[in-house]
Parts: sequence; structure tokens; C-alpha cells
Amino acid sequence: MTSMSSSARPLLNRRLAEFGTTIFAEMSALAVRTGAINLGQGFPDTDGPEEVREAAVRALRDGRGNQYPPGPGVPELRAAVAGHQQRRYGLSYDPDTEVLVTAGATEAIAAALLALLEPGDEVVALEPYYDSYAACIAMAGGTRVPVTLRPHEGTFRLDLDELRDAVTDRTRLLLLNTPHNPTGTVLTRDELAAIAELAVERDLLVVTDEVYEHLVFGTAEHIPLASFPGMRERTVTIGSAGKTFSFTGWKVGWVTAAPALLTAVRSAKQYLTYVASGPFQYAVAEALALPESYFAAYRQDMEAKRDLLAAGLAEAGFGVYRPAGTYFVTTDIRPLGERDGFAFCRSLPERAGVVAVPNAVFYNHREEGAPFVRFAFCKRLPVLEEAVGRLKTLSA
Ligand SMILES: Cc1ncc(COP(=O)(O)O)c(C=O)c1O
Repeated sequence: MTSMSSSARPLLNRRLAEFGTTIFAEMSALAVRTGAINLGQGFPDTDGPEEVREAAVRALRDGRGNQYPPGPGVPELRAAVAGHQQRRYGLSYDPDTEVLVTAGATEAIAAALLALLEPGDEVVALEPYYDSYAACIAMAGGTRVPVTLRPHEGTFRLDLDELRDAVTDRTRLLLLNTPHNPTGTVLTRDELAAIAELAVERDLLVVTDEVYEHLVFGTAEHIPLASFPGMRERTVTIGSAGKTFSFTGWKVGWVTAAPALLTAVRSAKQYLTYVASGPFQYAVAEALALPESYFAAYRQDMEAKRDLLAAGLAEAGFGVYRPAGTYFVTTDIRPLGERDGFAFCRSLPERAGVVAVPNAVFYNHREEGAPFVRFAFCKRLPVLEEAVGRLKTLSA
């Protein structure tokens, strides 16, 4: 046996060796350095509702949440999450045993995967996937098995046969995301029903990331997977105040799940952050009780922004996949005579003063994602108009 000196041994453990700096950090730094308009990272450039911000200020001043909040989250927020799931989807969860507050959806994803996976378990995830999925599966010692969403008539579609074929005897869970980042696909009722049947038939757990649940446009509809027959007992559902109320820096997320699943996720979560975001939890509790008019206005505002950016990108010469949900547009750069999204995104700030992200980073099969590039539209209209104007110079 050869002994390895500590200096020869890489510092980063091998499970994380393939994960460098996230693309968002790299591209946001590029935006700052070049002064380009940042349509790369998905954060709004205006804060959420004033009354919610005020609620956080009140909590801070009144001394609510300035010390460690309870591990599962403050009772007010757990009750508000349960109330939201009930009002919106008719799903009833007990705030004491079936709701867990987390440090953003990011911690919820990490805690769920660390809690539910054993080394060697396979996780079937829709590709392209949000980048923390791959890292968290790796940290848990799991193996990711991607099922690729493929372009079809202007949207990215799931092939249910491929999904069925991806499940093996080693599959422990399905990791879903609808509405889907980065493609903007919203899984339909029929697709979700088929996924639910598969999960029941193969006795799989499901972790479903529904952080964009309030951002669905036109006739698209968000239906929680947990509402399908046989799913409530096997599904961990994840939400986020960052995405729903435009306070991404507050890092307030939540999990709803049946008691046994929730207890498992909470066991992992308590050794990650233990607790986070004390005063913000009270503010988000108030936010979740906002009238329907808030959610409708938010959706309409984002839909108008989607329309503006999608039309502008098409005029600028991109192939455009019009999203049914989320605040991202995936484009195809081949009509511009380009094929490598990485090179394109690295040169775009210099060429056009705009930052975007290459979808390839969201793929196991990087070549599948090579010609696709994602733009975020959660920005003020004048910013989007300026970005579109700049991008039109590409094909001029
Ligand atoms: C699909 C998806 N899940 C989770 C997150 C992270 O959410 P949070 O900021 O609440 O941790 C994001 C953020 O971009 C996302 O796009």
C-alpha cells in the first residue's frame, strides 16, 4: 500500500472535487468588474413589499428572533406555511409535526438529501438541474442519475419513458423541480400524475423543489406533487420566501412533509445551521398572509417582464424557449452563429455589456447543454429594455 503524504492529498475532499466556484459567483463578479447588466444570477433588483420589510424591522426592534429561534422555526411562521398550503392547494399539514423552517430552500435541499440518502443510493433528477442538487447528492454520497429535459416545439419537455427507465433497484428518491430552473418548464397535471404513479409503484421518496410555485404564467398551473394519490406520505416539498417575496438575502425557506420524513430532515438540518434568520421568520409569517392580490400582482409583473425579455431576445437573434414559469428564459445561441455557451457568456460582457449564464453548468452531459444560455428577467423594466437594446447589437 502506498502512503500519501498530507501535502500530496488534495484539501477538498473527493466528493466535492468536481465542484469549483459556482457559476453564479463567477458571473456576478464578472458583472461587477465590467459594469455589465447582470441577468445571470436570479435575484430581483427591487426589494419585496414594504410592509414585509417593515415587519422585519418591527421584529428586530421588538426583540423577536434576535436570539436563537426554536429549531423547527418560530410557531408563527410554521402556522403561516401550513395556512398557505391549505388555502392554496387544500393540503393540510400540522405546523408542529409537518413543517420545518430552513435557511433558504438551499438548506432544505441539503438537509433532505443528507437525511434521506445512504452512500450508493441513486437519485433521479431532471437535467438541467439547479446546481446545488449535484453538490448535495455528492455530499450525501449518492449517485445522480439525470433525466434530460429536451427541446420540443419551443419548450423543454420531460420524456416519461426515459424517467421510468432511469429508475433502478438502487433508486432511493426522485428530485424534482417545478416550475423548473433554468428551462421555465412547468410540469403538467398528466406528467405529475405519471410521476406520482411511478413513485408509488417503485416505492420511491420524492423531494420536490417548488420555490417558483407563485411564478406560473398564462394557462400554466402549479400543482404540488404532494397532492397526488399516494404522495403525501413520501414527498418532501420545499418552498422559499426569497423567490416568492423578493427577499433572497433573508434566506428563509421551508419544508412540508409527513411526520416521519420531516423528523428525518430536521435531524440533518439541526446540524447544518441549527437555526437562521430569526427576525425575518416573523416577517415572512406576515408575508404569507398577504392577500391574493399581492401574489396576482407579482405574477403579472413578472409575466410582463418575461414577455419583454423573450421578445427582445428573439429580435436580437436568439432562439427563445418561452418559459411557462420561473423568472428565467433559456435561449439557443446557435442562430447567432455560436455554439459554446461558456465562451459566449464569458465574452458577452465585453461584446454587449450583459451577463448571462451557460446552461451547460446545469448538466451532467455538458454537451447537451452547450448551446443554451439563461437570462433572468427579475429586473426593473428599464434595465431589461437597456439589456435588450445592448443585445441587439450582437446581430447588427
Ligand atoms: C430551483 C431553485 N431551488 C432553490 C433555490 C435556492 O433558494 P434559496 O435562496 O431560498 O436558498 C434556487 C435559487 O435560485 C432555485 O432556483
